[in-house]
Amino acid sequence: MALVIFSNVHKVTPWIDALKEADPEIEVITHDQIKDKHKVLFALAWNHPRGIFREYPNLKCISSMGAGVDHIMTDPDIPEQTKIVRIVDPLLSQDLAEFSLAVVMNHMRGLTSYRLRKEQSIWKRSRYKRIADVKVGVMGTGVIGNHVAAFLQSCGFTVSGWGRSPGSPGTYKRYHGADQLKDFLGEINVLICLLPLTPQTRGILNHETLAMLPQGAFVVNLGRGGHVVDQDLISLIDSGHLSGASLDVFEKEPLPVGHPFWAHPAIEITPHMASLTAPESVAPQIVENYRRAITGQELLNQVKRELGY
Ligand code: GLV
Repeated sequence: MALVIFSNVHKVTPWIDALKEADPEIEVITHDQIKDKHKVLFALAWNHPRGIFREYPNLKCISSMGAGVDHIMTDPDIPEQTKIVRIVDPLLSQDLAEFSLAVVMNHMRGLTSYRLRKEQSIWKRSRYKRIADVKVGVMGTGVIGNHVAAFLQSCGFTVSGWGRSPGSPGTYKRYHGADQLKDFLGEINVLICLLPLTPQTRGILNHETLAMLPQGAFVVNLGRGGHVVDQDLISLIDSGHLSGASLDVFEKEPLPVGHPFWAHPAIEITPHMASLTAPESVAPQIVENYRRAITGQELLNQVKRELGY
């Protein structure tokens, strides 16, 4: 039976081409082409229409088209027996690491302020920070967070990480659990959020936690918009406690016109592009999971439904 794509966001042709390249035998179709919903066993999804999976009684597995699965987990109509898998891809992790470096360096060197000065022909130099002076804290110490932390450490930053659980020991200082959040936040200059969005992490960057960061700290959110309480972030920047933020993800995307983030001079905005899944890089693992799902084998990168990621 076919591998079916449910996405109203991604252009599907590159996905179909990459999946067919990975396995020419598999029939790949989009959900609007399905005639008999009983025959659908495997779905590839990104922002699927809510509730639609209820119509597919034999669905064994839903694969996210990206690393995040919150777009699937927040749909209350995912059948109990359906397994969920996510993408784990070295390219995705590296893209996030390189993007993190870019936004942190932009902040340290104040490059945006020079672009604004250029618009007014202003020749003015400002002091800058060096890598050796900056402590970066990565929130989320799973596959992606670990990679980003190790990459920034290899560039010379002092790096620490915070996660739900202790995880495996790494080369950088680890904190975990609610009890250690204050200590973690209290000693960093730049916070990079790479957490999965779950009921436990929603709103984790709020007035109380952001105020635990030292004066002048900078916030980078590459996780999900739901991690940040927007108004709390703005008020801590406006009060001078935080120096600014670079945000790639938002509660509602596209970020609505008129949202206060757009006009805020200390907030950088990018349109959820820190990492874009490359279909040709991830197609082999999707095809492998398709095969495993239809033959009842253990899946790669299966989400723990009780944890939400
Ligand atoms: C991007 O946000 C992803 O989840 O891959």
